[in-house]
Formats: sequence, C-alpha cells, structure tokens
Amino acid sequence: AEKAAPGIFEVLKAAFDFYRAALKKSPEAIAYFRKRGVEGKTAARFGLGYAPGGDDWQALKVIYPDYDWNKLLTEAGLVIEKEDTKRRYDRFRDRVMFPIFNQRGAVIGFGGRVLGQGEPKYLNSPETPVFEKGRELYGLTQARAVIRERNRVLVTEGYMDVVMLHQHGVEYAVASLGTACTPEHVKKLLKLADEVVFGFDGDKAGRRAAWRALENAMPLVRDGKEVRFLFLPPEHDPDSYVQEFGREAFERLIDEEALPLSQYLLRELSLQVDLTAEEGRAKLWHIAHPYLDQLQEAPVLRLLVQKRLGELCQLSQADMSQLQAPR
Ligand code: GTP
Ligand code: MN
Ligand code: MN
Ligand code: MN
Ligand code: MN
Repeated sequence: AEKAAPGIFEVLKAAFDFYRAALKKSPEAIAYFRKRGVEGKTAARFGLGYAPGGDDWQALKVIYPDYDWNKLLTEAGLVIEKEDTKRRYDRFRDRVMFPIFNQRGAVIGFGGRVLGQGEPKYLNSPETPVFEKGRELYGLTQARAVIRERNRVLVTEGYMDVVMLHQHGVEYAVASLGTACTPEHVKKLLKLADEVVFGFDGDKAGRRAAWRALENAMPLVRDGKEVRFLFLPPEHDPDSYVQEFGREAFERLIDEEALPLSQYLLRELSLQVDLTAEEGRAKLWHIAHPYLDQLQEAPVLRLLVQKRLGELCQLSQADMSQLQAPR
C-alpha cells in the first residue's frame, strides 16, 4: 500500500527527534549545556537537542530518504538548497537546538545556538507556512498552566532566559523570539494574564526593547490589566540573574521593583526635560500628550496618568482643563 504523503509537521517532528537523539550522542553539546547550568530534566522538558556539524553539512540526510521529504524539509526551513548547484545542506550545523512549539504542542521551528563564540550566535528558523516569528512565544507550551494559575506572564528576550527561569521555578516565563516584541505578541500576552511583566536584559538593547514594548502595549492595555517593566542591572539578563541570586531574589525584584507602565512612561519622558524650568515642564506636557492619547482602551488609567503628569508639570486641574492637548 502507498504511504500517505508526509506533512510539514511530520518532518519537523522527525527533525526534533533527530536533534534530541543527537544531543545524547554529543559529549560537546552535553558539556555545553552542563556548563550553562542546564539540568537533564530541564533539557527533556524543553526538548533541547543538538544539530551535528560534520564535513558533508548533511547530518539531517538520514531523515530525508525521498523527494517528498526533501521538498518539505526545505519548506520547513531545515534544509537549504543552493539554486545554482542544487546542493542541499542543513541550515543548523553544530548548534544546540531549542525547539519552538505551537499552541497544540507541535514543533513549528527551532532556534540554534553556537556552542562557543561565533556568528550568528543564534540562528532561527525562517518564516514558513507554520512559523510566524512575530506571533509565537517561546516556552508558552511549558508555561501556560502556571501563567493561568498565577495570572502573570513574564516576557524575556531569550531562549536561555526561559529555560533557566523555569529550572529555578519561575514557570510563567516566555520569550519573544529575538528582541522584538510585536503588537501581536502584546495582544497574546494580555489575553493570557492580567499581569504582564517585561523582563528584558539590563543592557542597552534590552532597554530599547522595553521602550518598544511600552509603545506596542499602550494602545492595547485596558483598565484592569497591569503591565510592568523589570530593569535588571546592566550586566545581567534573567538567566544570569536567577543563576546568581536565585528565584526568591528574582521574584522579589518583580514584586518590589518592576515599574508599572505609567511610571516607566513618565520617568523616561521626564528624563528628557528640565523639570526645574517652566519651559521644561511645558515640554514634558507637550511630549507626553501623544502618549496619553495612546491609552485609548484604558480611560481610567489615562486620566490617572494625566493627573500625575499635571503634578509633574505643576499644572492644577483647572489649568489642565483650560488646555487643549497639542497636536
Ligand atoms: P546566551 O548568550 O545564550 O545567554 O543568549 P542570550 O539569550 O542572553 O542572548 P542575547 O541577550 O544576546 O539575545 C537575546 C535573544 O535575541 C536570543 O535569545 C535570540 O533569540 C536573539 N538573538 C541573539 N543573538 C542573535 C543573532 O545573532 N541572530 C538572531 N537571529 N537572533 C539573535
Ligand atoms: Mn546579542
Ligand atoms: Mn542582550
Ligand atoms: Mn544570556
Ligand atoms: Mn541575554
């Protein structure tokens, strides 16, 4: 009898199994994860794997025996076919592998990290019919139940942040893939829990990403939701922080130091002006207003932020009611 044609999910699953098995056979990859503090049961929970190197660049060949598979593996972003020579080779070579799952628990893509130094540090699956980077959240499959239970979701930048936070018991952590947190991500996050905490890296890139997340969150946040921003010391990301200081310290930081969106907004804008001068306070009012207008789904929060802004600008309620928001 003829076998049914395989689908893209089937080849992704086969690659996933292949990478997991390859990890068990690679002392270097095992040593790498061990050096990073990843325990065996964490590796199993996240389905971590290894894409072998090898001289022919075709380690994955063993799972694509016939034409159907070739085509699908290329479509799935796992195999690259050179246009001129038609030579086929694996996209992921000599990398530790982080599988990405969809809502139903099917593998839809991968992130792969070099074992040591090297560029690019991370390689992700390309966009495919089943993998849209701007929508997926890494770790959501593993985090979903705890997110619901705690009514809190923590968004980080990286694969290792999620993996290590979970290992330390912070099981409501997910990551946007890469540093960009899109409006699609924010929508999804606000549906998952009432409290959304952005916990990006303490470095410059992380701070930029936090501001971008704020801009994306403002038009979507509703009264009753709480969006907050955690700022780690510049030398840390959630992975390094939780490994150095532990879960309690990390969660204390969330509970006590994460800035509500409103405060983060006003703090950043205040830093751009001189609040001791009338001109500076006028400028703050001027630059803050377009942001306030973004809070169109959260009328109460908008009003409260406006009141606080008035205080910062030393404008009374009567003053403010005389003003028209500048356009
Ligand atoms: P580790 O060095 O393994 O701890 O990774 P990290 O997650 O701390 O890396 P970093 O803070 O530099 O980047 C955060 C996230 O951005 C990563 O987890 C990746 O998803 C993504 N990223 C980092 N470097 C690259 C890269 O070179 N290319 C791509 N496409 N994505 C990257
Ligand atoms: Mn980087
Ligand atoms: Mn970073
Ligand atoms: Mn890191
Ligand atoms: Mn990082």
